[in-house]
Amino acid sequence: MSKVIIIGAGGVGNVVAHKCAQSPTIFNEIVLASRTLKKCEAIAQTVKEKTGQVIRTTQIDADDVQATTDLLKKEKPELLINVALPYQDLTLMDACLNAGVHYLDTANYEPPEEAKFEYKWQWAYQERFEQAGLTALLGSGFDPGVTNVFCAYAQKHLFDHIETIDILDANAGDHGYPFATNFNPEINIREITQNGRYWENDQWIEVEPMSVHQKYDFPVVGKQDAYLLYHEELESLSKNIPNLKRIRFWMTFSEKYLTHLRVLENVGMTSIQPIEIHGQSIQPIEFLKKVLPDPASLGERTKGKTCIGCDITGIKDGQKKRSFIYNVCDHQSCYKEVLSQAISYTTGVPARIGAEMIVSDQWKTPGVWNMEQMDPDPFMAALNQYGLPWKIIDLPLN
Ligand SMILES: NC(=O)c1ccc[n+]([C@@H]2O[C@H](COP(=O)([O-])OP(=O)(O)OC[C@H]3O[C@@H](n4cnc5c(N)ncnc54)[C@H](OP(=O)(O)O)[C@@H]3O)[C@@H](O)[C@H]2O)c1
Repeated sequence: MSKVIIIGAGGVGNVVAHKCAQSPTIFNEIVLASRTLKKCEAIAQTVKEKTGQVIRTTQIDADDVQATTDLLKKEKPELLINVALPYQDLTLMDACLNAGVHYLDTANYEPPEEAKFEYKWQWAYQERFEQAGLTALLGSGFDPGVTNVFCAYAQKHLFDHIETIDILDANAGDHGYPFATNFNPEINIREITQNGRYWENDQWIEVEPMSVHQKYDFPVVGKQDAYLLYHEELESLSKNIPNLKRIRFWMTFSEKYLTHLRVLENVGMTSIQPIEIHGQSIQPIEFLKKVLPDPASLGERTKGKTCIGCDITGIKDGQKKRSFIYNVCDHQSCYKEVLSQAISYTTGVPARIGAEMIVSDQWKTPGVWNMEQMDPDPFMAALNQYGLPWKIIDLPLN
C-alpha cells in the first residue's frame, strides 16, 4: 500500500484521482495538489461521491521548487504523479530529488518561452535519479505512454524485428462546439502548429505543419483524415526500437477544426510572442485558452469514440507481416465512470497504471526511463483490467 501525491487538478488530474481512489488497496493515501485549491476540492468531492474514498487536497505552485520540496517532505509520498503542465516537469523532478520521492509524468518538458518539446532536458537527470535510487517514468499517458508500450509488446511478442511504426490517434468524438481542444489548448495548439517531423533511415525529415495527410481506415471509427505531426514518443522510440527504418505519428482532425485553427493562426491568436495590453504582458495563446471551453467541461457533451494504435510492419519467422495494436474508448462511458471525456481518460488511466508499476516494484528501477524500456507485459495486463482494453489485428501488407 502506498501514498501518492498527484500534482495538477485539470482534466487528467481528475481521472488519475478517480482511478487511484478506485484501488484503495494499492493507493491507500492520495493527496491532490494544484495551483487552484478549489479545483482540487471539486475533484475530491466527486471522488468521494463516486468511490467513497477521501482524498486530501492542498494548494501548490509547482514552479516553486522549494515550496514543492517542503510539501513533499511534509507529506512523504512514495511517488509524485505529475499531471500539471509540461512546464513544471523539471521543477517537479528537482523537488522529487530533494525529497527522495519517485516521479512520473505524461508529457515531456517544454520551455514556456519556446514551443519546443524534447527529452534532452529530462534525460539529463538520468545520473541524479540513479544515484538517488529513485525512478522517474516519463510519458505515462496514452501517446506517449501506451503507444510506447504497444511498440515494446510488438517487439517482444509479435516480431523478430520491427521495420516501420505508424502511430495513429483518432478522435471521432463530437462535443458540439464549433471549436475546442480536448486537452489544455495551449499545449495542444503549440503541438500542432509546429512543423511535422518523422524519422526515416536514421534521419529526421521535416515537413510544413499539416502538409502530409492520409485517409486511414480505423477499426470501429472507420475512415478518418489523419495528419502527420511530430510527437514526443518518436524521439525515444527511434532510439530504443532496434533496426527501425521509419517511425511517424498521425492525428485526425476535422476540416472544421483545421479551418478554425488556420484563422486563429492568421490573426495571431496562437502566437506565444508576448504582447502588451493595459500594461500587462501576455501571450495571445494564453488569452485564447481563457476564452475557449475548458477541456474539463467537455465530458458531458462529448459523444463518440477514440481509436489510438500502432500500425507496425516487420519480420516474424522470416516472413514480412503487419499488425495494428489499438484501443477504442467511448467518451460517454468515460463520463459515466469518472466525469471526463475519453482524451483525459486515456491519459489518466495509463498514469494510474504507471504509478502502480512503480509502487508495486514491477518497474521500480533507479534512473530516468521511457515506457518502452520497461517490460510491457504487466502494463498490458493492467490496461485490460483498468478500462483501456486493447486488440491486435493483422493487416494486409501495403
Ligand atoms: N501523454 C498523453 O497522452 C497526454 C494527453 C493529454 C494530455 N497530456 C498531458 O497531461 C497534462 C495535463 O493535461 P490536462 O488536459 O489535464 O491540462 P489542464 O486541464 O490544463 O490541467 C493542468 C492542471 O495543472 C495545473 N497547473 C498548471 N500550472 C501549475 C503550477 N505551476 N503549479 C501547480 N499546478 C499547476 C493547472 O492549474 P489551474 O487549474 O490553476 O490552471 C491545472 O489544474 C499536460 O501535461 C498534458 O500535456 C498527456
